[in-house]
Amino acid sequence: EKGGYEHFMLKEIFEQPRSIGDCMRGRLDANNGRLVLGGIREYANKLINADRIIIVACGTSWHAGLVAEYFFEEFCRIPVEVEYASEFRYRNPVIKEGDVVIAISQSGETADTLAAIELAKSKGAIIFGVCNVVGSSIARTSHEGAYTHAGPEIGVASTKAFTAQLTVLNMIALRVAHSKGTITESRYHELLVELENIPSKVEQALKLDAQIEHISNEFKDSKNFLYLGRGYNFPVALEGALKLKEISYIHAEGYPAAEMKHGPIALIDEEMPVVFIATRDSSYDKVVSNIQEVKARKGRVIAIVTEGDALIPQMAEFVIEVPRTDEALMPMVSVIPLQLLSYHIAVMRGCNVDQPRNLAKSVTVE
Ligand code: M6R
Repeated sequence: EKGGYEHFMLKEIFEQPRSIGDCMRGRLDANNGRLVLGGIREYANKLINADRIIIVACGTSWHAGLVAEYFFEEFCRIPVEVEYASEFRYRNPVIKEGDVVIAISQSGETADTLAAIELAKSKGAIIFGVCNVVGSSIARTSHEGAYTHAGPEIGVASTKAFTAQLTVLNMIALRVAHSKGTITESRYHELLVELENIPSKVEQALKLDAQIEHISNEFKDSKNFLYLGRGYNFPVALEGALKLKEISYIHAEGYPAAEMKHGPIALIDEEMPVVFIATRDSSYDKVVSNIQEVKARKGRVIAIVTEGDALIPQMAEFVIEVPRTDEALMPMVSVIPLQLLSYHIAVMRGCNVDQPRNLAKSVTVE
C-alpha cells in the first residue's frame, strides 16, 4: 500500500500534485472565473462580514494558519490572529460575536484544537473547520467547513495535508476577497490561474529529489540547522525546521530571517547549515542581505531560489531551484524541497521516518 515507495512519507510527498489537484476539483475553474466551496455557501456572509478571523491549530496545521494570515489580510483586509490552540484555550481570550474562528486540523481529532473550538463556540463565535479526515470530531463540531480531500495521511510527519490546507485556505480567501471587492478582477483571475497551475509546479519541484538526496548526504551528521525565510516563506522556514526535528532528531530552528540579528546569529559558525527560503518576491533583496550576513560568519548556506536566479548561486554553497509562482502561493512549492531534505536526512540517519519516537499521528490528549 506504499505504492512502491519505501515509506509512507515519501509516497505522500510525491502524491502532492494529485492531492492538491483533488482539493481543487469541482471547486475551482479558472477559465470561467469560478470558485465554489460547498461548505462555505451558508456561512460565506459571516466570513465576508467578519470583524476578525481567529485561526486555531497545532503543529504543521498552525504553520498553514500562519501562511493563511498573510493572504487573508492581504486579499480580504480582515485582521487575523493565529493561535496555538493550547495557548488560546487557557488564557481567557477575547472572543466576540462577529468573530469567525477557523480551526485547521488534518486528523480532526487534536484535543487542544477541539477544546479551543468548544470555548469559542460557547462565546458565540462561528466555527469554520478545515479538516482532512471526513466525519472527524472537529469536522462535526464546526458550524461549517471545507475538507482538504488529501486522502489518508499515514506518515506522522504531515506533508500532503499541509499543501492541501494551504489550497483550501487560499480558495476561501480568494472567494471572500472577490465577494468583498477587496481584490481587483485581474488579480483575482491571475491567482485562480496560478492556483490551478500549482500541481504541475509541485511536480516540477519533486524532480529535485536526486539533488536533494545529494545535499542531504552532505549535512546528515550536522547537529543543528537554521531555517530562515521572510513574508510568505517565514512559516515555510518554521515548517522545514519542524519536519527535520521530528523525523531526524536534529535540532533545528525556524526564524523570520530578519530576526536573526536579534539573537540566533550568535549560533552561526562553519558548523551551522542555514537553509534560506529565498524565492523571488517582495522581500528578496532583504533576504539576500541576510544571506550575506550568514556568509560573513562562515555559515553553510543552502538556498531555495526561483529558477533562473543569477545572484544567490554566487553566494550559496548549495542552490535548489523551484519553479516561479505568485508569492502568495509559493509556500506550496517552496516547502517541497524541505520535506524531501528532512526525509532523506532521516533515512540516512537510520530513523523510523513514518513513526518517529515519542510522536503519534493524532494527539488526542492535551
Ligand atoms: O491533526 P492535526 O493537524 O490537528 O495535527 C496537528 C499536529 O499534531 C501535527 O501537525 C504535528 O505537528 C505533525 N506531526 C507535524 O508533522
